[in-house]
Amino acid sequence: MKTAITELFGIEHPIIQGGMHYVGFAELASAVSNAGGLGIITGLTQKTPELLAKEIARCRDMTDEPFGVNLTFLPTFSAPPYPEYIAAIREGGVKIVETAGRSPEQYMPALKAAGIKVIHKCTSVRHSLKAEAIGCDAVSVDGFECGGHPGEDDMPNMILLPRAAEELTIPFVASGGMADARSLVAALALGAAGINMGTRFIATREAPVHDNVKQAIVAATEFDTRLVMRALRNTERVLTNKGVERLIEIEREKGRALKIDDILNEVAGVYPKVMIDGDMDAGAWSCGMVVGLINDVPTVKELIDRIMTEAEHIIRQRLTGFLDASRTPAKTLAVA
Ligand SMILES: Cc1cc2nc3c(=O)[nH]c(=O)nc-3n(C[C@H](O)[C@H](O)[C@H](O)COP(=O)(O)O)c2cc1C
Repeated sequence: MKTAITELFGIEHPIIQGGMHYVGFAELASAVSNAGGLGIITGLTQKTPELLAKEIARCRDMTDEPFGVNLTFLPTFSAPPYPEYIAAIREGGVKIVETAGRSPEQYMPALKAAGIKVIHKCTSVRHSLKAEAIGCDAVSVDGFECGGHPGEDDMPNMILLPRAAEELTIPFVASGGMADARSLVAALALGAAGINMGTRFIATREAPVHDNVKQAIVAATEFDTRLVMRALRNTERVLTNKGVERLIEIEREKGRALKIDDILNEVAGVYPKVMIDGDMDAGAWSCGMVVGLINDVPTVKELIDRIMTEAEHIIRQRLTGFLDASRTPAKTLAVA
């Protein structure tokens, strides 16, 4: 399948693995790239630019295919040394960066001078247009369904993607709620040139996280995510657990007076406890509503091959079948 995204990034399939804290290590990124998608290392999971340089080198040992690095611009006063992280990316020869969080405007000259293609992940049409205006090459349009930070507009992809298609000139991928071939074909129909998946890629053999996390994803239903930190205007969609229930209780008590310090136990330092130790009640970790569609733990290649094979089937059989059915007898009527 050829789309503006496969052409832009030089990849075989229009499937991107979004940056994920404590998940997007070289093992997962290289597996996705080797399977023909675009794997992404999560920059800030590496505590220093030197460690990121090592992770990039490790990933390069595991794949000859293109891969990217995610740089999340956090709403914090003590910002990480982003210029040094960008230097590590440039010196590591990485040519694709996924930015997220705040606008990457300030860092665009450095990224562009290094010949890096930038895909900015954002949750609204206005931020997508801003990304286009500052020279981003593509956008990852992240709907309300998504795991992680859906923003404050609560706009689901069924509306957000066609709105993005109406306004954007640069290509975009659909992010949030994407799990399978049906998601890919629907995203293409809505105007996207590919998909970005987070949660789905955690439940794969190569994702370097504790097996408890993968089993929790398989066991969860679409009713099991919660939105937290809304009062802080830093809304995050997470998988519910005892820590999250406690957090929501504190949020109820404090109301609009909530401060980040009130919930530090439930949100700070949680990722290593969950992803490495498998402590599933530790607190808030990002997870999308798409958990309701995840029922197995395949290899990354099995997952991507399955998506592409079934997407072709849906397009050639089911969709064109509807058109052919108007000309031929009912036996060719397409079913799923
Ligand atoms: C466990 C987890 C950690 C994440 N960490 C980050 C992150 O550090 N930076 C970022 O830009 N996005 C992060 N995301 C968001 C994903 O890159 C992606 O946009 C999102 O998961 C898409 O929604 P989906 O989970 O429905 O596929 C994270 C998502 C998950 C599930």
